[in-house]
Amino acid sequence: MRRFLVAGNWKMNTTKESGAQLAQALASEVPSENPAVEVLVCPPFPYLTTIGDIVTGSGVGYGAQNCYHEAPGAFTGETATEMLTDIGCRSVILGHSERRHVLKETDADINLKVKKALEAGLQVILCVGELQSERESDQTEAVLNTQMTGGLAGVDGAAFGQIVIAYEPVWAIGTGLTASPEQAEAAHLYLRNWLKDQYSAEIADATRILYGGSVKPDNAKELLSQENVDGALVGGASLKAELFIPIIQAAVELSAE
Ligand code: 13P
Repeated sequence: MRRFLVAGNWKMNTTKESGAQLAQALASEVPSENPAVEVLVCPPFPYLTTIGDIVTGSGVGYGAQNCYHEAPGAFTGETATEMLTDIGCRSVILGHSERRHVLKETDADINLKVKKALEAGLQVILCVGELQSERESDQTEAVLNTQMTGGLAGVDGAAFGQIVIAYEPVWAIGTGLTASPEQAEAAHLYLRNWLKDQYSAEIADATRILYGGSVKPDNAKELLSQENVDGALVGGASLKAELFIPIIQAAVELSAE
C-alpha cells in the first residue's frame, strides 16, 4: 500500500512572517505520530531554515524547490545539495514545469540534478507534464515518455526508494483548470506502466505518483481516490492553511478506508 504524500510547493511566495504562520498552522495540525500521510512543504530558499525549524518535531517535512548539480564551489546564485542536507532538508522538487518553461531547463539539466540529489540522499520529486497544445495534438504520452526517459537516464532501480513522480499537466497549473479524475488516472497509469516496463513491477507498484494542477479542497478527494494517484503536489492552495489542511485531511480519510 503506497502512503499518500501531500506536498505544498510555495513557489516564489510568502514573506518570512506569513510563511512562518502558515508553517505553524500546519505543524500544529499534523502530528508527528501520523504515519498515514506524508506531508511536505517546499518554501523559497531564503525561508527554508526558518520554516524547517518551525516544522521540526511535527509531521510536516520540508523540501527545496530546486538545487544545482555541482558540489559547493564557484556557482554564483546556485544551491548545492550539500547545503540542503546540511539544514535538514530531506526533499527536492526537480523538473517543475515553471523551471522547464520559464527557466528553460532541459531534460539533460534535470537529469544531472536528479542524480546529484539522489547521491545526496534527498527524496526527489520529479515533475513531468504536457502543455495544452501537446495534449490537444495527442502528444501527452510521448511527452511523458521523453521527460521520464530524460530525467531518469542512468538512474538505477535501487534509487527508487527516494523517487516520487509528480504528474503536472502544464495547462492545469495555476489556471483553475484541473485534469478530470479520468484524465489524471490515465496519465498516472501510463507513468506506472512506464516504470514497470523500464524498471520492474515491484518498482512500479511501490513508487508514488502525485497529481499537481489546481488541486483544491473541493476536488482533492476525487483526484486522490483514483487508483494510481498517490498524493498531491499543491501550489496555490498550499499557501493558505485553511485550504491545504482539508487537502491533507482528504488524504488521511482515504488512507483510513
Ligand atoms: P497550482 O496548485 O497553483 O495549480 O500549482 C500546481 C503546481 O505547480 C505545484 O507544483
